[in-house]
Amino acid sequence: MLSSTTLAVPVCTDVPRHLAIIMDGNGRWATKRFLPRTAGHIRGVQAVRRAVETCGKLGVEYLTLFAFSSENWRRPKDEVSLLMRLFIQTLEKEVTKLEQQGVRLRIVGDLSPFEPRLRELIRSAEQRTEHNNALNLTIAANYGGRWDILQAMRRLLLAHPDLANNPDALDESLLSEHLSMAYAPEPDLFIRTGGEQRISNFLVWQLAYTELYFSDEYWPDFGAPEIEAAFEWYRTRERRFGRTSAQVAKPI
Ligand code: FPP
Repeated sequence: MLSSTTLAVPVCTDVPRHLAIIMDGNGRWATKRFLPRTAGHIRGVQAVRRAVETCGKLGVEYLTLFAFSSENWRRPKDEVSLLMRLFIQTLEKEVTKLEQQGVRLRIVGDLSPFEPRLRELIRSAEQRTEHNNALNLTIAANYGGRWDILQAMRRLLLAHPDLANNPDALDESLLSEHLSMAYAPEPDLFIRTGGEQRISNFLVWQLAYTELYFSDEYWPDFGAPEIEAAFEWYRTRERRFGRTSAQVAKPI
C-alpha cells in the first residue's frame, strides 16, 4: 500500500524507514589520487556494499541508490562502458549474498537501452530476491525523476482513458500509484555525497517532504560512521509536513 507524506502523514521514527542516496564524488576521489575516474567507481561499489550492510543493521526498510542517471549517457564512452560492466559484474557476484542477507533487489528506470544480457541479469536478480523482506534495495539505473512522472502519466492514461475527458478526477494518489517506486513509502532522508547541493532529477515527485542532507565526503569514503552521522542529524529535524511546530511536538 502506498504511503505518501503529502497524503497521509507518516509516523516519524529515529531511523529513516526510507533512505535515498545520490552517490556522488567517485571521479573526484580517483582524480585526487592520480587514478583514472573508473577506479573511483570500482571503490564506489565497495561503498555500496557497506551502505547495504549498515542500513540492514540499523533497521532501514528501504534503501534507494542513484547508480546511473538518464543524463549519465553523456559521459565519455569508456566511462559509460565501465559503469555498465561494473553493473553486470556486481549483479553476477552479489546476488547470492543479497539472497542470503534477506535483501530484496529492484531496479527502477528506463531499462530499454541496456544490453539484453544486463536486462536478463536484472530480471533474474529481482526474481531470485522477490521473497526477501529484511531490506528493500532499489537501484535507480537510467532513471530520471521527470521520466518517472511522464511514464506514470502514460500508464495512468492507458489504465483510465476516460480521464482525458474528466481531468478533475485526477489526483495525487492516482498518479503516484503508477510511479516506478509505488511499492515504497516516500524517502524520509535523502543524502548526497561529494559536496554538491542538488537533487539532479532524482526522485523529483517523492522528495517533496524529504529531509535533505549534504555531505562533503566523496562516495568511496562514505561508510558506516558517515551514515550514522546523517541519522544523528535526521533525529534533530522536526518534520512538520505542513503543520505547526506545536501540532507536531512530541509529548514529554
Ligand atoms: C557519481 O560520481 C557516481 C556515478 C555516476 C555512478 C555511481 C556508480 C557506482 C557507485 C558504482 C556502480 C553501482 C552499482 C550499484 C553497481 P561521479 O562520477 O559523478 O563523481 P565526480 O562528481 O567526482 O565526477
